[in-house]
Amino acid sequence: MTVSQNPEGSGYDLAVVGAGVIGLACAWRAAQAGLSVVVLERDEPGSGASGVAAGMLAPVTEADFGEDALLRLNLDSRGMWPGFAAELEELTGLPSGYSEPGALVVAADRDDAEELRRLHTLQRRLGLDSEWLGPRATRSLEPGLSPRIAGAILAPQEGQVDPGAVVAALAHALVDAGGELCSGAEVIALHTHSGRVTGVRTAAGDTVQASRVLIAAGAWSSEGELGAEAGAPEVRPVKGQLLELRVRRGGSLPASRLVRTPRCYVVGRSDGRVVVGATMEEQGFDTTITADGVFRLLEAAYEVLPDIGELEFVRARAGLRPFTPDNAPVIGPGEIEGLLWATGHGRNGVLLAPLTARRMVEALRGVSTVVSA
Ligand code: FAD
Ligand code: GLY
Repeated sequence: MTVSQNPEGSGYDLAVVGAGVIGLACAWRAAQAGLSVVVLERDEPGSGASGVAAGMLAPVTEADFGEDALLRLNLDSRGMWPGFAAELEELTGLPSGYSEPGALVVAADRDDAEELRRLHTLQRRLGLDSEWLGPRATRSLEPGLSPRIAGAILAPQEGQVDPGAVVAALAHALVDAGGELCSGAEVIALHTHSGRVTGVRTAAGDTVQASRVLIAAGAWSSEGELGAEAGAPEVRPVKGQLLELRVRRGGSLPASRLVRTPRCYVVGRSDGRVVVGATMEEQGFDTTITADGVFRLLEAAYEVLPDIGELEFVRARAGLRPFTPDNAPVIGPGEIEGLLWATGHGRNGVLLAPLTARRMVEALRGVSTVVSA
């Protein structure tokens, strides 16, 4: 890895640790705002949770009891996605996979129906756009659903992207905006002087000077010397196993909408890939694919969409969601001057990328007059 200092030789305005969807989105917006930016990624862009995620933009069907503030963030960011995706696609000529298929949360049986009716009541109380449908109305929308289903919540505004494509487009857009992206650059320590950040040190022994450092290292944000020195917020990994299937020649997607149940979700892509996710496991940094994980996801998807059984099995993957104790992300300045955080996005980091990047630029404006946009 070679990290060049910025052209003036005085260091970068901003060094970002981590090239997931969060670090890249923040870096892109900061570069657009006129900052000299470098992103340091220990592996490859998208090698963390962002490269594994399903890509649902689903604030309504992810809403949970007691998380009203998080819901408002999710809704705000959902509203930003059409413009964010269009700008990214136009600037780079690359796809994002953005679409607005809507979602059905399907009750496989009467027990599920009881649970989902409670969830629907919550959604209505929160003023969300959702509707309860009986089994016949549900199957008229998605004929591939099992005749045994007991109804569904329709959330017509839910969207999706292809997170791998978004990461690739963001990396491209960052470089086009004048930013630098260094793969294979593991950051192991902060440099500080007189109580403020002056840069970072990498595992290869390079020093990267920067007047501000943004830690966007996902589930690893509070790890090691870097996390300890930086006074990291509490972030823990929550493992998610996810299956990738593919429509066979002449076949079609099992559903045109996002289909969810209390046990799984199914996301179809326009190129014929179908994602079935995901487990939620407290297993530390373990990313082992287990027989139990694969079995339960397939069983849950097959229960409501029997055509899943006809698809080609491509691979199973696991990623680590960065979770905070209250499930809300941490976005903004840290305790050391010049240090910023964008981490802890849990189940909704892809959804929250546009809003996080906007807030980060606002935070950068708050600590400096360099940002011009
Ligand atoms: P990451 O993508 O994990 O990126 C962190 C990066 O930092 C990594 O590339 C890592 O290599 C790098 N790094 C770590 N330490 C260092 C270091 N010391 N030096 C340099 N680099 C370092 N969200 C949604 O919105 N919709 C979904 O449908 C969805 N589905 C999901 C399904 C699964 C199975 C999983 C696991 C997650 C899903 N998520 C979803 C959540 C989403 O993936 C995460 O919230 C989001 O990707 C977090 O992005 P990030 O950039 O913070 O972290
Ligand atoms: N938001 C879907 C997941 O985290 O699995």
